[in-house]
Amino acid sequence: MSYDSIFENLNSHGQGHLLKYWPDLTEKERAQLLSDLKKIDFAEVNELFRRANDTSKVILEEKVEDLKPIPDSHYEAVPNLSNEKILEYENIGLKEISDGKVGVLLLAGGQATRLGFGHPKGMYDVGLPSRKTLFQIQAERIVRVQQMAAEKYGKEGKITWYIMTSEHTRGPTADYFRSHNYFGLNEEDIVYFEQGTLPCFDFEGKIFLDEKHHVSSAPDGNGGLYRALKSQGVLADIAKRGVEHLHAHSVDNILIKVADPVFIGYCKSKNADCAAKVVQKSTPSEAVGVVCRVNGHYKVVEYSELTDEAAESRTADGRLTFSAGNICNHYFSSQFLTKICNFESKLKLHVAKKKIPYVDHEGIRQKPTEPNGIKMEKFIFDVFEFAENFICLEVARDVEFSALKNNDAAKKDCPSTAREDLLRLHRKYVREAGGIVEDNIDVEISPLLSYGGENLEDLVSGEVFAISPYHLKSMQESTANGNGVNGTNGSNGTH
Ligand code: UD1
Repeated sequence: MSYDSIFENLNSHGQGHLLKYWPDLTEKERAQLLSDLKKIDFAEVNELFRRANDTSKVILEEKVEDLKPIPDSHYEAVPNLSNEKILEYENIGLKEISDGKVGVLLLAGGQATRLGFGHPKGMYDVGLPSRKTLFQIQAERIVRVQQMAAEKYGKEGKITWYIMTSEHTRGPTADYFRSHNYFGLNEEDIVYFEQGTLPCFDFEGKIFLDEKHHVSSAPDGNGGLYRALKSQGVLADIAKRGVEHLHAHSVDNILIKVADPVFIGYCKSKNADCAAKVVQKSTPSEAVGVVCRVNGHYKVVEYSELTDEAAESRTADGRLTFSAGNICNHYFSSQFLTKICNFESKLKLHVAKKKIPYVDHEGIRQKPTEPNGIKMEKFIFDVFEFAENFICLEVARDVEFSALKNNDAAKKDCPSTAREDLLRLHRKYVREAGGIVEDNIDVEISPLLSYGGENLEDLVSGEVFAISPYHLKSMQESTANGNGVNGTNGSNGTH
């Protein structure tokens, strides 16, 4: 393609400035810029910019009286269910796992900017006694839940782990798993795929140059999942493997019950095509989206998009009206995913005003201190309104949700809180299994030993845990790695 034809194309879409520094560039830099430009469909992204602007206006006009909570008929809360009911759901889910019908969609394409970690967030080690990272914890939960399904139904079905990365996280993520021997999973059961990017715009709709030879772009949000599933052949893989249920979740929740059989069983038994796990919002200002209905459609209204009036609104008995806090933990039937991926281009766009580094008119790279432009994103939950049977499952926050978003300076949703929340839960599991442990003692339970508190009694019943830290491991793990931190009777643990 000649310079003239490229310039003409860009100019006709109002983006001719992207070639302003062409004369200054080396051959290599020109090739880089051309490669960036070729990836962009300018008619499409200009249209997205127009729609993104419209979307942000509509949200500002959303009225509190248009919002309604989720009706009881579509909502169950695990803390209110009987043990029999939970077991019933769990068994249904384990059966689907043992039949090989369950997959996990891990959203791991975020840039982890708030955490300030230069690697994929899944590689973060919050300082547990075992020093396991988020990826390792999740991988081992998959290993364990497969084992539970095999023990229950005599057949080991494999869970396929679909890991969505972005252009920045793909290489390091794949290298990390390879160098750790896939944490006990089969290499062929881990499928990486890459989400797309969208250019960053100034407020007038001009695309920024990040460098003279590089267009500014950012991942297209966790709703970029749908386009990527289709374009990267993941839908086809799901069909080929006979996967019927997908558990999709964020990478940063240290308590995530990966491929949760209770959730899968609940959704299957209700014949749901799409579902969300939620927790009770702690305060009106908590930074989680709320799952609700807007003009009759199931939606998540993000914390940044909820008016104060709606956030503060309370029911007659004093509870928050919009209390179903979204924790980025969703269920999709494979049929629903296939349907959605065919019209993902129509999904809503969300606009975030950001400080975007750019090359100015003099060719100098600027790092603005105030927001100077927008990033556009799609959100995973914007498909809820297209579900035929959408349901919610409320879960206990102390058992299932502790997100790693910030660094420790923020004092919330940070490495220390994630670590403490996990250790607090594990102390609770130990006590429920008959062990004796004070609040100041750190006991970590390997996911290979116990997925959700099961399988502990023989090991901990009557034991006093007195010297921190403990790491309770499965027999297999202890034999393989030796003891490193405290263990009961020196058998399954470490000191
Ligand atoms: C998300 C939810 C919010 C919820 C909160 C709970 C969305 C859009 N918002 O907000 O409703 O209350 O979690 O913790 O789901 N990701 C990608 N690609 C991207 C952007 C993000 O894969 O382009 C992944 C991240 O790696 C992460 C997950 O999506 O695993 C959530 O993204 P994040 O940006 O952390 O969302 P929040 O703003 O915290």
